[in-house]
Order: sequence, then structure tokens, then C-alpha cells
Amino acid sequence: MAAMAAAGRRALGRWALALAALAAAAAALDNGVARTPPMGWLHWERFLCGTDCAADPRHCVSEQLFRDMADLMASEGWKDVGYEYLCIDDCWMAPTRDKRGRLQPDPERFPSGIRKLADYVHSKGLKLGIYSDVGNKTCAGFPGSYNHYELDAQTFASWGVDLLKFDGCNSDTLELLAEGYRNMSLALNKTGRSIVYSCEWPFYLRPVQQPNYTEIKQYCNHWRNFYDVYDSWSSIKSILDWTAIHQDSIVKIAGPGGWNDPDMLVIGNFGLSWDQAVTQMAMWAIMAAPLFMSNDLRDISPQAKWLLQNKEVIAINQDPLGKQGYRITKDKNFELWERPLSGSAHAVAVLNRQEIGGPRNFTFSLTFLGNGLACNPTCSVQQVLPTSRDWGFHSWVSSLSVEVNPTGTVLLKVVAL
Ligand code: GLA
Repeated sequence: MAAMAAAGRRALGRWALALAALAAAAAALDNGVARTPPMGWLHWERFLCGTDCAADPRHCVSEQLFRDMADLMASEGWKDVGYEYLCIDDCWMAPTRDKRGRLQPDPERFPSGIRKLADYVHSKGLKLGIYSDVGNKTCAGFPGSYNHYELDAQTFASWGVDLLKFDGCNSDTLELLAEGYRNMSLALNKTGRSIVYSCEWPFYLRPVQQPNYTEIKQYCNHWRNFYDVYDSWSSIKSILDWTAIHQDSIVKIAGPGGWNDPDMLVIGNFGLSWDQAVTQMAMWAIMAAPLFMSNDLRDISPQAKWLLQNKEVIAINQDPLGKQGYRITKDKNFELWERPLSGSAHAVAVLNRQEIGGPRNFTFSLTFLGNGLACNPTCSVQQVLPTSRDWGFHSWVSSLSVEVNPTGTVLLKVVAL
């Protein structure tokens, strides 16, 4: 009897453990933020580490740059469509900490200090993001947070910072890297301020170790997996290819509170054609990616602005179901991707990867989508990009034929009826 009771207790114990593990697997960092992918602006891709304000006052990393962007985000409709976080990347710091050991901004480029800048950004209805690094130094060689996680988290919170991008350069070991990412997350939580925590943990881990995404999601709100985005089509392609190849391990982990981050939107710069810009916007929506533009809002074409401010594609990106999309097939140099959305809907992207010739038609059966459920028994089909168009009603045995430009994407929304 006693033995049976003990065996029963052990079995129950195992159940409790299994249930706890399940609960942990589903848990995201519970800091209340990033319930949908965060949106905003980040200086790095466009402005890099410009520190010479005397030579180039308009493009150096300075409080003036962020004030200019804050003004435009509020006045030019960016904030209204959801771009909320105005984020400083590397190179904002002075080369040394202050007498009390705190990080301090470069006094010449940020003469009013970060607290004042945060106040200004908040007065525009926006939020401020800042950058630091888990190691001794940032990637560009400025002071890092190693050994100062608590102090730096407190400093950022006292300044009114709302997001921290935490880079992974210059960590001596992978153990220190992991410990640092965990400790900074705990330190941010301890401040009591809601601060989005943006990590590069899996990216720095991956060459040596398979990342444990269940753990990463418990500490970070979004995380970079792959190399820095550049202002080029080859960079966008490499990010999409990496994502599709790894989709079995990364797609399932994304959800409210925790997102895979394929890096910044480079739309509005120099390297992408119109069709490639459409592809970046459409595919970042399919991937449930954080949308951080890195461009010059003082000098942006009406076309790029239209694309970046397109409410239908933003609604797909921000869908409350929070499921990341994936590639369904690759066929004749076309890629077909889908993303399940709330309200029995799916976003569907057809990407033409052929870089020779002109527009080509891709024909596919609607039964392909959503495991046969996306258009079952009937559905409405709306085209979102490159232009908005009503494709009307279809039944689940219908085929659709879309024309796609080389390197371009057609983005559709399919709603089951
Ligand atoms: C790394 C990051 C970039 C950027 C730079 C800054 O390369 O991946 O996004 O933050 O560092 O030095």
C-alpha cells in the first residue's frame, strides 16, 4: 500500500514537473511590453558611429539628430501608425564612466544629457531607447556594462529610458554572455520601469552552441539571430534565407512578449529598388518582426513613406494573435509564405526570387494555404502590396494567379468565410 502510494506520489511529482516545464516553455518575459512587435526608429544602419559633429553636424550621433527624428516622428504621421520607440544605438557614450562609475553620454554630442532627451521624446508622445553591451566594451569600443548591470539598469531607468538594445560583443566566455543577458534582464525588471529588452544573445551564441530559445524568451522581448542588415538586396535575401532554413526551430517560439528580430528596415535609403523595398516590408510583416526603421526621416521619398506607413501591412505585422509566418514552398524561383492571423485570416506572400527577365505569374491553389483551412469553404482575398486591390471571393478549390516583379513580393490577406 505504502509502496503504491509512494509510486503514485512519484508519478504525480513527475506530472507536476512536466506541467511546470510546459508552463515554462510557453512563458515569455513577463514585463508587460512588446505584446506585438515593437515599432520605432534606430540610428545604426543609416548613421553608424558618426562622432565628428564639427565635420558633419547633420549626420553625427548627437542629441540634435534624435530631437530632429522625434519632431518628425510626431509631425509626419510615423507615431500615428505605430512607430513609437526612438532608439539610440552604439557610440552615444563618453569614453569613460563618471566619478560614480555611471555611464555618461558624450558631453559634446549630448550636452543636455539623456534625461533631458528622454523628457523631450516623451513630450512628443514617443519612447526612448538606448544601447549598451553585455561585455567590457561595446562593438564600437565604448564602455560596456560588464560588472555594472545593476548600476546601468538603474541609470537607464532614472533617465526614463523605455527600451534597451543589449549587444553581445567582447564577452570573454559563452557562460559570461548568457549570465550577462540574464542578469541585465533581472536588473531591468528590478528597476520597476517597463523597459523593452532587445537582445543579440542567440546571434553571438550560435557559432558555438545551439541557442535555447525557451530560455532566451524568458529573458528577452526580442532577439537577433543573424548578421547585421545592410542597405542591399543581398543582405535582405540572406536574412530571408536564414529565416526559412531555421524556421522549424525559431517560428514556434515567437509570440506576444518575445519575437525573432531580423534587424532594421532599410527602406528609404539607397540600396533597395522599389520592388525590394516592398519585399522587405511584406516579409517583415510575415515574420512578425520588430519594425525599427533606420533611415533619415528628414529626407525620405513619398514612396518610401507610403510603404513604411501603409496601415494594412502594419496591421498584419501587429496582428494580435502574434504568430510568426513561415515559408510553405519554393517553386520555380518563387517562394510562397503564409502567416496565420486573428479572425480566421492568413497573410500570404508570393516572392519572385528570379533576378533576370520581367514580371512572372505564379499560380497556386487556395487549398495550399493554412493546411487547407485558409479558404474553407470560401474566402475573400485582398491584395495589400505592392498596391491595394480587391481580388473578391473564392472557394477553397479556386486557384489564384498573381504577377510578381523580379525581387518583388505580392502580399495578400485571405479571410475564411
Ligand atoms: C553590432 C550590432 C549592430 C550595432 C553595432 C554597433 O554589430 O549587431 O546592430 O548595434 O554592433 O556597434
